[in-house]
Amino acid sequence: MHLFARIICILHIFGVCTATGADRSDLYDPPALYLTWQGDPAHTMTVCWQTVGDTPPAVYYRPLKSPGTWLQMEGVNKPFKGTRLTVHITELKGLSPSTDYEFCFRPGDREFKFRTAPADLSEPVRFISGGDVYHERKWMDAMNAMAAKFDPLFVVIGGDLAYSGDKDKPEKIERWGDYFDSWKNKAVTPDGRLVPLLVSIGNHEVSGSWHQVPEKAPSFYTLFPMPGSQGYNSLDFGRYLTILLLDSSHTHPVEGAQTDWLRHTLASRRDVLNIFPVYHIPAYPSIRSDETGDNADITKSIRTNWCPLFDKYGVKIAFENHDHAYKRTHPIQGNKLNPDGVTYLGDGAWGVNLRTPDPKKPRWYVAQSSPTRHFYLVTLHPKMRHIVAINEDQQVFDEVYQSVAQDRH
Ligand SMILES: [Fe+2]
Repeated sequence: MHLFARIICILHIFGVCTATGADRSDLYDPPALYLTWQGDPAHTMTVCWQTVGDTPPAVYYRPLKSPGTWLQMEGVNKPFKGTRLTVHITELKGLSPSTDYEFCFRPGDREFKFRTAPADLSEPVRFISGGDVYHERKWMDAMNAMAAKFDPLFVVIGGDLAYSGDKDKPEKIERWGDYFDSWKNKAVTPDGRLVPLLVSIGNHEVSGSWHQVPEKAPSFYTLFPMPGSQGYNSLDFGRYLTILLLDSSHTHPVEGAQTDWLRHTLASRRDVLNIFPVYHIPAYPSIRSDETGDNADITKSIRTNWCPLFDKYGVKIAFENHDHAYKRTHPIQGNKLNPDGVTYLGDGAWGVNLRTPDPKKPRWYVAQSSPTRHFYLVTLHPKMRHIVAINEDQQVFDEVYQSVAQDRH
């Protein structure tokens, strides 16, 4: 974008001057553009973007290899409170699996690309998991760019995205602008595809941090149609992968309705090869106490309500966050070490200041922990899953191999 246009755009977004109409380059090459899924990832894609003013939420799209005529889809729009932005959310349906598409917001303007998910595991599927993203822009930019280099099908972030919220302080809403600017411009694969983003909620998305209601996280619920207003949800990739986006008592309690939903969701997916819960506060933290402090009650509730369901229904990996360190637990079942149990991977250190585990207080469940910014690269094969931890120097420093065939019984 031309420098003058960019300055005008920023002034309009944050209300520094009177909006007299949207800048056209901003309208069709929006400053925030991100993809997610609300439905079958092999046949849909949800395009989210933001503009200044209320404009028609139309996306033009077509297959990259056989372009033909542009198809057009309209969605919904809603105000992004606290800014002059409108959030547009358009779900494209009827797409083909494992297919690259191009899209734009007006034929002739800038075009973007995405890829739908495969219908099955005939080829390996790769995705990335992490959390706790934006303390400093340089860390966020570097990790977003590095993640995209690995050409993942998607990235899932387990809470604490933009750090716009901090306990009861007013939301720093401009941090969402940085967050999405980085995501749009850095999270691009080597062949130019935007990487779909899945999220679960963390304490820095919520005024009051935990034990709140969805109305205390208005930006999160405006910006992300998935997990949606329920606050927790599942996303099914055929019968080879289910991602569970859970709310660790930020706007929905762990216990009660969410646990009932989790039980039903897991029970109806006994034949799914890989199920990965992703949530913010750890059941097995590497830094914070699991006995006292702000989050100890939530940690205990997850151990009481969710972990037995993970054990019962054959979950083998759970992604946790919030503690700003690297962590891999020993396999755990029934809150005891058991080689057939769940390995808990965390602890949320995408782009944040790091915390160091206390060597004088070793934890019975921790196999490895360190103050390391990182994400997990997960590769799924028909009979095996391979997970590597990658640090900010792009080095693999830990890994987990698991046989899939023996899991789901
Ligand atoms: Fe957190």
